[in-house]
Amino acid sequence: MTSAQTEKRQRLFFALWPDPALARRFYCLAREQHEACQGRVLVPEQIHLTLRYVGSVGSDTARCLGEAADRIALPSFTMTFDRLGYWPRPKVVWCMPSEVPEALTDLATGLEAACVACGLEGENRAFAPHLTLLRKARRAPPASEMPAIEWPVRDFALVHSDTRSDGVIYTVLQRWALQPAEA
Ligand code: 2AM
Repeated sequence: MTSAQTEKRQRLFFALWPDPALARRFYCLAREQHEACQGRVLVPEQIHLTLRYVGSVGSDTARCLGEAADRIALPSFTMTFDRLGYWPRPKVVWCMPSEVPEALTDLATGLEAACVACGLEGENRAFAPHLTLLRKARRAPPASEMPAIEWPVRDFALVHSDTRSDGVIYTVLQRWALQPAEA
């Protein structure tokens, strides 16, 4: 076996990770939608917004990504989730901010550049910021409106995804602070 074959690989992604109180609010929303949409409710510990899916990488790439993330200097921001929807193919019920803050797009763009600089293939799909509430849902939410949930975003994270027989476990490996917004 070559060293590349024996090297430990990890499935990673960059995400915004809510604090427990905020995760609980999204979880309550997911539970409410479950009644009409069915499927599997994401537990509070799984709730996040993916900024850039990385996939399975070795330790050198993971280190490179961490160093590239160290160099990101962008402001914190607040976004308001106010829209519910459904993607029939992956059978996902999600919520989204109808207004995407520029700072969020800048952060996703910065992480995309970091991934490419670390040797990953560029993402050709447009960034569609969404927070998955239900997986394997059978139906779309009956309404697209939802009570607004504000998320003051102060940092972003690199997350490890581990698929086990009883489900997926996400572990936040590292967080990077965003700069305080100007007064
Ligand atoms: P989803 O919530 O829309 O399914 C961890 O798997 C996270 O990365 C999930 O939030 C998932 O988005 C996203 N993800 C998984 N596979 C992906 C892929 N191939 N491309 C983009 N995002 C992906």
